[in-house]
Amino acid sequence: MALRGCLRAGRGALRGAAPPARGGCGGGRPPAFGFLFDIDGVLVRGSQVIPAARDAFRALSDARGRLRVPVVFLTNAGNCLRKAKAEELSRALGLQVSPEQVILSHSPLRLFSQFHQKCVLVAGQGPVEENAQNLGFKHVVTIEALRKAFPLLDMVDQSRRPKELPPPTTDFPTIEGVILFGEPVRWETSLQLIIDVLLSNGNPGAELEDIPYPHLPVLACNMDLLWMAEAKMPRFGHGTFLLCLENIYKKVTGRELRYEALIGKPSTVTYRYAEYLIKQQAEKQGWKSPIRRLYAIGDNPMSDIYGANLYNSYLKSAHQNQVQAGVKRSPLAASPQTEDQLVQRKDCNISMEGCESILVCTGVYRHNADVPSNPEECVTETAFHGHRDFCFDPSLVEASYVVQDVNDAVQLAFKKENWN
Ligand code: G3P
Ligand code: MG
Repeated sequence: MALRGCLRAGRGALRGAAPPARGGCGGGRPPAFGFLFDIDGVLVRGSQVIPAARDAFRALSDARGRLRVPVVFLTNAGNCLRKAKAEELSRALGLQVSPEQVILSHSPLRLFSQFHQKCVLVAGQGPVEENAQNLGFKHVVTIEALRKAFPLLDMVDQSRRPKELPPPTTDFPTIEGVILFGEPVRWETSLQLIIDVLLSNGNPGAELEDIPYPHLPVLACNMDLLWMAEAKMPRFGHGTFLLCLENIYKKVTGRELRYEALIGKPSTVTYRYAEYLIKQQAEKQGWKSPIRRLYAIGDNPMSDIYGANLYNSYLKSAHQNQVQAGVKRSPLAASPQTEDQLVQRKDCNISMEGCESILVCTGVYRHNADVPSNPEECVTETAFHGHRDFCFDPSLVEASYVVQDVNDAVQLAFKKENWN
């Protein structure tokens, strides 16, 4: 396996230098911190719950089973509804998880309202149409619907080829954009049809003319090359599918496939959305003190750790800019924000101080590795598993802390916060 976590001692002093424990005991005071939990490799492996996850959530809950700290589940999975993922988590963790606590890889697409009225081709698996509609897309075409309308396009599987020449389809809407939710089941079908749509400017039944460039907007969610599941070795993720698509497009046209947006971890928009949901949750609970710190717990250095560190840098520079500009508190931060306003705001994170990344060893990262005795030791990646459009910055894949499992991660955060 290419991903080898090489543990190096000594960098903890730079990245892992934790702030001194804050006063108080958690008992009577509202939390000033929140958790972003990755799901696969941290809480579950495929359909199997990781035992430490139950311990972690016992520690996070009060005697009545209610969470004492705001929590968001941040997954790059996208093949189900938020509601279904919340139910799955409720069963796995033994507490009530609401859909508003779940961010799937495509959840931030609800912020991209400029695409909601366009006719879009949506690829992935599971309830893709329902997911797209829930996100606000009004005119959705699935790969299956496109395949039915143009049965001559999908030629790889001979058993699925039409037996007779079908009549031409003339009244199919022109596709104006492509949304990639997650890995589909028949890769050859989706790869072929997506390329057809891009080459034909949204009319794949037509004869090939000049190849349009720039091509139609493509929005992709989940760039994970690999994910863990139950097998002993990591499995292909949507990032592997994207790699295929990019290479086919490049080979066929000689040009780069361009993305209008890349969503899901490690993308900053996903973490901004998570911050918004954490704050909303704290507000709903009536916790008065502002949430100032986030702890992001994940198993994938290139996704969870890179994303949390990138967001941390974003928060630090936003904070710095505001300090330099002499802004004490943004008016936007003071008023309730809609999700649309959230995407507009660039600099009102003044209340959020930072986002700490905690890497666990129960998933993609050295799932059978020894844990360093000092959680502030760092890891490096020897092969770059990130997406083409994210540059490899070694400092961004180094977690603030490395621990064995999610329970240790929660205990570590409690210690940092002096929270019982
Ligand atoms: O397909 C899901 C996978 O890419 C990762 O899931 O929960 O580890 O972000 P998660
Ligand atoms: Mg994971």
